[in-house]
Amino acid sequence: MDGLQFTKEPAPFVITIFGATGDLTRKKLVPALFSLFLKGNASQFKVIGFARRPWTKETFEAEALSMLSGGHFSQVPESQKRAFIEKLDYISSTFGDPEGYAKLAEAVAPWEGKLFYLSTPPDDYPVIIENLGKAGLNRTTHGYSRVIVEKPFGRDLATAKELNEVLSTQFEENQIYRIDHYLGKETVQNILVLRFGNGIFEPLWNSRYIDNIQITVAESIGVGTRGNYYEKSGTLRDMVQNHIFQLMTLLLMDPPNDLSPDTVRTEKVKVLKSLRPITYKDINKYTVRGQYSAGVTQGQPVRGYLEEEGVAKDSKTETFVALQVHVDTWRWEGVPIFIRTGKGLGRKVSEVAITFKQPPLQVFRNQASDEGQNQLVLHIQPEEGFTFHINAKIPGYTTQVRPVNMDFAYGDAFGEATPEAYERLILDALVGDSTLYTRRDEIEASWTFITRILQGWAQDPNPLPQYRAGSAGPEEAKALTASVGQKWRKL
Ligand code: BG6
Repeated sequence: MDGLQFTKEPAPFVITIFGATGDLTRKKLVPALFSLFLKGNASQFKVIGFARRPWTKETFEAEALSMLSGGHFSQVPESQKRAFIEKLDYISSTFGDPEGYAKLAEAVAPWEGKLFYLSTPPDDYPVIIENLGKAGLNRTTHGYSRVIVEKPFGRDLATAKELNEVLSTQFEENQIYRIDHYLGKETVQNILVLRFGNGIFEPLWNSRYIDNIQITVAESIGVGTRGNYYEKSGTLRDMVQNHIFQLMTLLLMDPPNDLSPDTVRTEKVKVLKSLRPITYKDINKYTVRGQYSAGVTQGQPVRGYLEEEGVAKDSKTETFVALQVHVDTWRWEGVPIFIRTGKGLGRKVSEVAITFKQPPLQVFRNQASDEGQNQLVLHIQPEEGFTFHINAKIPGYTTQVRPVNMDFAYGDAFGEATPEAYERLILDALVGDSTLYTRRDEIEASWTFITRILQGWAQDPNPLPQYRAGSAGPEEAKALTASVGQKWRKL
């Protein structure tokens, strides 16, 4: 097994969470750090919560205990939880107060690795970044100093560039980790293994053999308590610019020559830069927006978006987006990429469907009751795995053809639960691997494309189509796939 690395052991580190009293810390960050601790991937470390609320070390400890009380931690012995929370500390400070940073500098000084996690509302990022610099926390004479920046990273190209500028005044690019939790998902990482670790797919992975690609990220819940945030964001910013574009670039990129962070990310950027711009004149041809109205999803009544807390009664914010995009490269010329995502839909499911062209001569066309195009469906979540739809002969004296499925399920093959996205990503930042983080040019390239659409929508006088919560989205979205004789996959 020499040379194969299955675990990663970071050097002793201190992680400072700005915004430690927030939702992300509760739901994702503390649980992820605890998992790393339980699995032995973190032994010598400290977690410092840094936030405005007048908590103490004891409050943070008690809060952390409650964060670890339920779910898959309920069986973990109390002693291990206690051993973990001993590593916590808390600094109560506003984000602009130099005194808070002086305390922080003292607390982190002995540690080799210093990781700063920005998990506050994004308006606070500039002042935190500046103060980290002023306190000298952006440089270190031994070990490293790194910063993880949570989404949203800007709200358009101009603001994303501004944030990149602010970051670059204090940190080098190799110290900056722009997180996108979709890249931490096993099934997303497996896209690269599927494509480049097998000989059979890559020769077919181009416009000669692929007819179209559909990417679906559907959520059944509405915006819930996040109405205030969502109003200013909308689905295009919340899901497409980041998560879906990450999926898309992994699907469409050219093979990297190696797995170094810059080689992989350079290939991804090339895809984003080749996206054919959607300008105002094509806005209704290639994009569809929608907003959910009251309905029932999975047996639960869901109120309409306009009735949600924090949402304007005449809101024009989209809760659903469907796009048809084209990537103008030698490999993908003429292959439409369909994207659809939204809240208040019938089911929570993320998947990618790659539909292959029909054989040049369809000799079985008269034998097929229901001959479908071959399709490879990558199940991202909640199912994890993939399904190949191929045509087969129905047993019997006559030749009749119908599609059958070949399935691969992670659970069956590996038998263990896949790690949470944040565990893998935090661990990567601790060992200095930025492959699964977004580079500066990558974020700016995706915002370039998205900002044009936002500008087009801003000029579009048409009303926003509504869709009933629990449905598959607005009827108007059907026109996108129908334009090339295709249909959306059933949700
Ligand atoms: C977040 C979005 O980034 O991703 C949320 O802000 C969305 O609106 C979430 O619900 C989806 O993540 P996941 O991992 O549940 O698919």
